[in-house]
Amino acid sequence: MSPSERVHFDPAGVERAAGVLTRGGLVAFPTETVYGLGARADQPAAVQRIFAAKGRPATNPLIVHVASTAAARALAVRWPEVAERLAAAFWPGPLTLVVEARDGAVAPEVTCGGPTVAVRVPTHPAALALLRAVNIPVAAPSANRSTTVSPTSADHVSKSLGDAVDLVLDGGPIEAEDQYGIESTIIDVTTEPPTLLRYGALDRATIERVCPLRFAPSVATTREPARAPGSQALHYAPRAQVVLVEPERALDEVTERRATGARVGLIERAPGHGSAPHRELLPSDARGFGRGLYAALHRLDEAGCDVIVIARPPPGDAWDAARDRLSRAASPRD
Ligand code: TXA
Ligand code: MG
Repeated sequence: MSPSERVHFDPAGVERAAGVLTRGGLVAFPTETVYGLGARADQPAAVQRIFAAKGRPATNPLIVHVASTAAARALAVRWPEVAERLAAAFWPGPLTLVVEARDGAVAPEVTCGGPTVAVRVPTHPAALALLRAVNIPVAAPSANRSTTVSPTSADHVSKSLGDAVDLVLDGGPIEAEDQYGIESTIIDVTTEPPTLLRYGALDRATIERVCPLRFAPSVATTREPARAPGSQALHYAPRAQVVLVEPERALDEVTERRATGARVGLIERAPGHGSAPHRELLPSDARGFGRGLYAALHRLDEAGCDVIVIARPPPGDAWDAARDRLSRAASPRD
């Protein structure tokens, strides 16, 4: 396989990336959540390459990215009034809507043959520029191997996918104040009221200002860490083992694990409980913590940690997404 190409986000880079996508190639691009691994959504062969590159089960459908609400509507049989209100409130932005798929709008591989399609309009300028340039819906999961930590930089993409991706459009790390660093919130608007399918960048209170929500059984609605059932439990996992502990326990846990000879990383919220080697101190607010979490996990993996001790997030809806990702990362491996 030829080595993957990397281009910067500028007009020439976007044009080059759009060309590769249009010809059926795989292009990784930045969004305000995480980097996506894009392929044109209307070509089965292109979409199949996404599943192969990620090692993704063929039963897990993909999110389609488009540049406008009008383009999203064109993928749906029906566009409920609540979809219109959610789109008006949050697009472009980190919200994914699941709608009834119009026949033939995307390749069947995108929806895994199902009756619905997930769609979103990202707000990252590089993503929008690329989507406008190709003017075709783009299927894009996170640009990492299945079950591993999502990428928030071009280097994360290259380390995870290597030459399986044809081109990486480098828009820099996802770390700015107006970015999220954690995946989009997914809402199914085919139900009444809409169903929250995945916690994500927009917290439930923000969405509930627009419409009431119900919660899928797969998402925890309690303040306790989720123990998701089924084979998808292990997800968002670094190479190192993840151990979640109460914040006051964190330093003792690190000391005890280090005594066994393990290289131990620590992630805690500012101000933290004292310094330690391989410590990542993340912001104390949910938005800042979520934004920095994946990059911290990537750095601790890079540092060769065997174990990563993480201080449990506090209670409260604002922390739902971080809590969800951490409990999955800490899930036992088979
Ligand atoms: O922020 C994001 O959403 C990122 C960026 C790249 O846009 N994408 C992302 O994709 O997180 P991925 O593949 O890692 O997660 C997509 C999720 C999966 O949990 C999948 O099951 C769900 O979306 N999904 C896709 N289509 C669906 C559908 N028709 N019905 C229900 N869930 C769907
Ligand atoms: Mg993913």
